[in-house]
Amino acid sequence: MNIKIEKRSNRMMIYCQGRLDAEGGPVLEKAVLPEIEALPSDGDRPVVLDLGDVDYLSSAGIRSILFLSKSLYSRIPEGGFRPPAILRVVNPSGNVKQVLDMTGLGELIADGSAGHAADKKDPEARATQADLLAGIRQAFPSPVSDQLHDASFVQTIARGLERLDGMKSQRPFLGRHAPLNYDRARRSIMPENMSTLDETVAELASYLEGLIIWGHPYTQENVIPPASIPSIVGQFFASIYNPNIIWDEYSHRLAEAELEVSSMCAALIGYDPDRSAGVFTWGGTGTIFYGVKLGLEKALPGSFTGGLREPAKVVSSEAGHYAKLSALGWLGLGTDNLTTVQTDGDNSMGLEELETVLTDLVRRGVKIACIIATMGTTDAFGIDNLEYIVRLRDRLCLDHRLDYRPHVHADAVIGWPWSVFNDYDFDRNPMGFPARTLRSLWDARAQIRRLGLADSIGLDFHKTGYAPYTSSLFICRRREDLDLITRDQALMPYLFQFGNYHPGVFTMEASRSGGAVMSALANLKFFGKQGYRAILGHIVSMAEELRARLTQNDHVQVVNDYNYGPVTLFRAYPDGVDPMAAYRREVEDPAAGAELLRHNEYNQRVFDVLHHQAESGEGLALSLTDRYRVSAGGEPILALKSYVMSPFIDPEAMDKLMACLDAARRQAG
Ligand SMILES: Cc1ncc(COP(=O)(O)O)c(C=O)c1O
Repeated sequence: MNIKIEKRSNRMMIYCQGRLDAEGGPVLEKAVLPEIEALPSDGDRPVVLDLGDVDYLSSAGIRSILFLSKSLYSRIPEGGFRPPAILRVVNPSGNVKQVLDMTGLGELIADGSAGHAADKKDPEARATQADLLAGIRQAFPSPVSDQLHDASFVQTIARGLERLDGMKSQRPFLGRHAPLNYDRARRSIMPENMSTLDETVAELASYLEGLIIWGHPYTQENVIPPASIPSIVGQFFASIYNPNIIWDEYSHRLAEAELEVSSMCAALIGYDPDRSAGVFTWGGTGTIFYGVKLGLEKALPGSFTGGLREPAKVVSSEAGHYAKLSALGWLGLGTDNLTTVQTDGDNSMGLEELETVLTDLVRRGVKIACIIATMGTTDAFGIDNLEYIVRLRDRLCLDHRLDYRPHVHADAVIGWPWSVFNDYDFDRNPMGFPARTLRSLWDARAQIRRLGLADSIGLDFHKTGYAPYTSSLFICRRREDLDLITRDQALMPYLFQFGNYHPGVFTMEASRSGGAVMSALANLKFFGKQGYRAILGHIVSMAEELRARLTQNDHVQVVNDYNYGPVTLFRAYPDGVDPMAAYRREVEDPAAGAELLRHNEYNQRVFDVLHHQAESGEGLALSLTDRYRVSAGGEPILALKSYVMSPFIDPEAMDKLMACLDAARRQAG
């Protein structure tokens, strides 16, 4: 690319010759940017780009043109005059002009408005159906190979990403975290006219303002991951071609992908992939629906067709997620039929109480539809003893000659990825985890490696699997179990006449997006066991870093000491209080209720300050659980929570957390 620059009194002329592509673009930028810097910042002197001798313009070249235009505009001070004609493109040849037109830039730049004029177009002026159709076609991915159309698609995305990038700062959220205006939202009405692509994308980008950046080192709020790039691309690919995994006719190789993912996961957790079956569903809650539903059919056969004719119980620990209540309510069992078992100090289901509860139900002839074992609780990463639960169930079946087997569902939506450590050599420690991390990983694995004993299991990729929402996989150990919920194919005459994969005959959903499967597949292929070990090892290490700091602090008590995951729950105490002694009293002594409530209020105040620090961009995004567990006196125990999910979190972020906590304690009084 040859560049010639002429500075005239009223404009700057840039003559380009050759190919304006990935090589030519940087040459152009390098030559022109210093000249732009030297221009007065009043926007009075337009820059004219003469493309008369350019014979090829690629999307990289277009990006360079946009970049120059943006650089010119960015020199104009806030509130200054922003001329529409700051960068003009003149003399584009046939091909080059076509590229500019296709990407929406021909008009923008040739008439001098560089990214601004299209937004001001009067939609009424092109209101004929034929005109609109052209714009509509431009708004869909090209159905046949068309590089110009694709370049325009890429540009649209690139411009959107550029807007998002403009909102990034050191703070853990995008742009400003402004108060929300629900009144305005409620008054919204559908626009009368079509918008331009750019207008729409710009508006969409603005809706992301204020969003928490889950990947930010100062974000430690909940079990919400940043999505990995491969998983984003997986979702995106599926969005372009919109496969529906109701059957293989509508999803083709994505049907294979669903099988691949469920077989990989089955083998990982200890199921026989040849005997098990998996299906993606609408969230971790959906996986629990499947587990409870299968159990219901086993305990009360024929419920699917005949409805519920007698009650049945679901048993779970008090730390289990409330999703089980949704399942009970929506499946018609009724939430009153949940039997809750208290947890031990390590937040796992109390086994003695479980035995008492199950034995009592069996003796009274009450049907048990499902026992839900939580393998990684939401608040504390508590892990139930699945092996004990399954053996207990088996013993009860034998001892009481039950004519059905209560279904055991493992809610492992958080804990499942720890299965990658099942075959890790903890003695040799080839990946070099620090000693405390190794201990923590080993401890979690001790329970997680028993996952294969459950009758069914729920796995979320949109949690510790690092995929975008929602990507949840339900697997049952014996694929025949799915026959219990399979509908008569005659009821669906318009589907399944051919092909070999028809999950739509038993899935809760009719349409099922391929995006969930593709993002999961992307992460399994990208990370492999090694990569998952590395990222899980990292988040556990960072939680250990925090625990080490909290333990050394005289005013804080870690309250999920025996859970070895990425989440740390802790309570802060006012000066002069011994945290360990106070916490013990609060948990064990029913007479310490007033002290517990006073310290709950204190922690609430500390949290309010922490939250304010985060909102003003000075702190970390942490969270709070106002009922981590219940004291001996029946009072809720509130705890502050750090959930490490981001691979970008480092020890410096934990130093910052401690500094924020100190400041918050001082302010809370
Ligand atoms: C242990 C557990 N199970 C189930 C769920 C429900 O998952 P989802 O929100 O994807 O429906 C959650 C959510 O956090 C959870 O922590």
